[in-house]
Amino acid sequence: MFDHVRTALLNGFFPFARVCCATCDNRLMIADTDITSGPARPTLVLGVTGCIAAYKACELVRALVKQDVRVKVVMTQAATRFVGPVTFRTLSDEPVTTSLWDDPGSSAVHHVSLAEEADVMLIAPCTANVMAKLASGRADDILSTTALATEATIILAPAMNTHMWRHTATRANLETLRSRGVIVVEPDAGELACGDVGEGRLAALERILEVTQAELSRSRDLVGVRALVTAGPTLEPLDPVRFLGNRSTGKQGYAVAEELGRRGARVVLVSGPTSLPDPFGVTTIRVNTALEMQAAANTVYGDADVVVSVAAVSDFRPEHVAGDKIKKDDAPEALVLVRNPDILAEFGADKGERFLVGFAAETVDTLEHARQKLVAKNLDLVVANDVSEPGAGFGHDTNRVVFVTHEGDEHLSSMTKGEVARRIADKISARTRKTL
Ligand SMILES: Cc1cc2nc3c(=O)[nH]c(=O)nc-3n(C[C@H](O)[C@H](O)[C@H](O)COP(=O)(O)O)c2cc1C
Repeated sequence: MFDHVRTALLNGFFPFARVCCATCDNRLMIADTDITSGPARPTLVLGVTGCIAAYKACELVRALVKQDVRVKVVMTQAATRFVGPVTFRTLSDEPVTTSLWDDPGSSAVHHVSLAEEADVMLIAPCTANVMAKLASGRADDILSTTALATEATIILAPAMNTHMWRHTATRANLETLRSRGVIVVEPDAGELACGDVGEGRLAALERILEVTQAELSRSRDLVGVRALVTAGPTLEPLDPVRFLGNRSTGKQGYAVAEELGRRGARVVLVSGPTSLPDPFGVTTIRVNTALEMQAAANTVYGDADVVVSVAAVSDFRPEHVAGDKIKKDDAPEALVLVRNPDILAEFGADKGERFLVGFAAETVDTLEHARQKLVAKNLDLVVANDVSEPGAGFGHDTNRVVFVTHEGDEHLSSMTKGEVARRIADKISARTRKTL
């Protein structure tokens, strides 16, 4: 029944595969690559744009190279009016790219190879223009195309005139970018190059470096970790056309799988039916029912170090599934339901050294239910959310959750599901650093 599971196993447990962009015919470019043997030095792609503050990017390169970071500079055409590429080339000891049409000296498509090499992409200073391009998904030069193609975390350090910074268009772009997980190091207030005084100066270089270093260490902190993530709903058939289901869209679970994969973990995502595309760098197994989810998850559980169970698995399924569509006049008086297996409780009973994370989506007494679940299922962390709250739970892009652990509760503010995923990955990282 599970050809996809067999394929995953034939490829070796948790194969790591990257799919290249459409210009490469979606070829599988790197399959079964051992990501634990990545380059020792992290790679930062530094985008420099057309601002007076472009000269400060030279200092960033010097400081990062001193910290043993490989820095690959990408400049817009406007940036080259402010600082010459040769300066960055000398400081970074790496080729500098200023055009989509530069010859990279190999058959690689340059923006794709830069995008894939990046552990983190920092754009500093970032113009209002580049913020607008990134927010609208434009890709008309080497910098914006690389930013669109990369799966790495993007950090922006904007610098501009104070009126440009305060403009509603720029504020809207900022919000859009933040909602997609882009990290923004906000500009400082002070005297600007144009003579105005106000917000818009490039943030202090120490602050930009601190955020960049934190993201660089995050970018590979889960190398060597094998993770199983479950996501989405399960649909329990009544007949060939009807089912019992729930409102889970899979967004939170996919965000967790993607975040763990981005940080170097080998991830298998077992997903119920969703409309979401398979996350990048993750092996995705699609299932429909709770029994199928159990079978697929069991296949990979044995070798997993971490399990994050986000799936909203149906507690019940119809006892009888009709072979043909049930006609109106043949409808049964009552539906007889039987219990589905509790996949996470079974994992908890055979926990070993694993780190187990569960979710509790409730509408009343959320924290109490979460604490009970933590103990009853032998878990390490329960992410509790009240799905009746506005802007939280099923289908929303944001979530307001509480981390319930044996050490106590941690209330997080409302944040994107991507940010919740980062916080969960941070917990996993803190734990695995101790045990691996
Ligand atoms: C002297 C000068 C200084 C500029 N400083 C800034 C700036 O600090 N921030 C900004 O967003 N744009 C600034 N601009 C405008 C940008 O250079 C312009 O929008 C350009 O199209 C940006 O191109 P890029 O975003 O591709 O680098 C400045 C322009 C000039 C001529």
